[in-house]
Amino acid sequence: MKTILLNPGPVILGERVRQALLKPDLCHRESEFVGLQNKIRADLLSVYGLSNDNYASILLTGSGTSAMEGMLTSFVPAHGKTLIIENGVYGERMSKIATIYDIDHVSLHHEWGEQIDLTKVEGELQYHHDISHVAVVHHETTSGRLNNIDAIAELCRKYNASILLDAVSSFGAEEIKFDEWNIAACAATANKCLHGVPGTSFVIGKREAAGQMSATPPRTLYLDMMTYLKNQDANGTPFTQSIQTFYALAEALDELSDSGGWQTRRALYWKRIQKVRDGLMELNITPYLSREESSCVLNAFYLPEGISYPELHDQLKSAGFVIYAGQGDFSQSLFRISCMGEIDDKDLERLITAFKQIISGN
Ligand SMILES: Cc1ncc(COP(=O)(O)O)c(C=O)c1O
Repeated sequence: MKTILLNPGPVILGERVRQALLKPDLCHRESEFVGLQNKIRADLLSVYGLSNDNYASILLTGSGTSAMEGMLTSFVPAHGKTLIIENGVYGERMSKIATIYDIDHVSLHHEWGEQIDLTKVEGELQYHHDISHVAVVHHETTSGRLNNIDAIAELCRKYNASILLDAVSSFGAEEIKFDEWNIAACAATANKCLHGVPGTSFVIGKREAAGQMSATPPRTLYLDMMTYLKNQDANGTPFTQSIQTFYALAEALDELSDSGGWQTRRALYWKRIQKVRDGLMELNITPYLSREESSCVLNAFYLPEGISYPELHDQLKSAGFVIYAGQGDFSQSLFRISCMGEIDDKDLERLITAFKQIISGN
């Protein structure tokens, strides 16, 4: 029996992407690699209709956190100051990164899952006149909340700040308004909504924002996005890249485009997650957030009465499904389900049946 992954990445691969992993071995200093790298860089921009004149994709070998770390260390000039908004694990991770690298920042904390308080955001922007950037998570995977970037971007415009966006769990399936939101840089990964394999992540940066980094010395050797940008624009790479995961990402991007782009993917994810929400609500399993507050990528649910997460997880795993625990204190009250990757309607029907059996105790 095939195990269906309902965790928020890595996803179940489609056959096209899996087969792409078997393409010929390549040297990363040969022209074939340059072609592959250039294709991915262009196709990533195409996902949101961005022009190569204004934006650049920067590819790196590492997980989503490496892209977050690359974005924060490489897109805030030495004289800049960043407001980091926290309402879950990944916002807090950005504050940790800023602290480790001694990047001037203020963190605005909210409890996990809480809606971002715009009055507080505006208060910070008013108080700290020198804030140049606001770092925020688009889809906070901790809770499934899709943060209101429209409203945050409006405040950023008023106070002349640009956005650093963690779009690791939204890129490819949720709307990202690069120009309207004044995004300086956005961090994302291959193995979530794009349906690639883990190992490649990327930063999409505004070329103008990159230009403003010329007087700032690199804060890191391996994750300095300016080094990657310079090399990749010159058809090179500063370090060995993970060739096979590049192949997979190139194929995954073709597949996304062939299937209708991020809008179609969002509609597909909503269809799936709504099916799960409806099926679980019939069993009195309540979603943590309303549909309006949720992403299409992942929803969190309260654990059913009398069943602990390990029990639920193990029984579902025996039935062929891997669900995801709540993080930290949420592990006592929540579980999470994501519907990315190669999943079909029948899988979700079997999932609801498995839940029914677990709840009724047989
Ligand atoms: C919003 C968000 N940011 C960052 C990450 C970190 O990604 P990774 O675990 O690939 O380093 C994740 C992982 O789930 C995420 O959901």
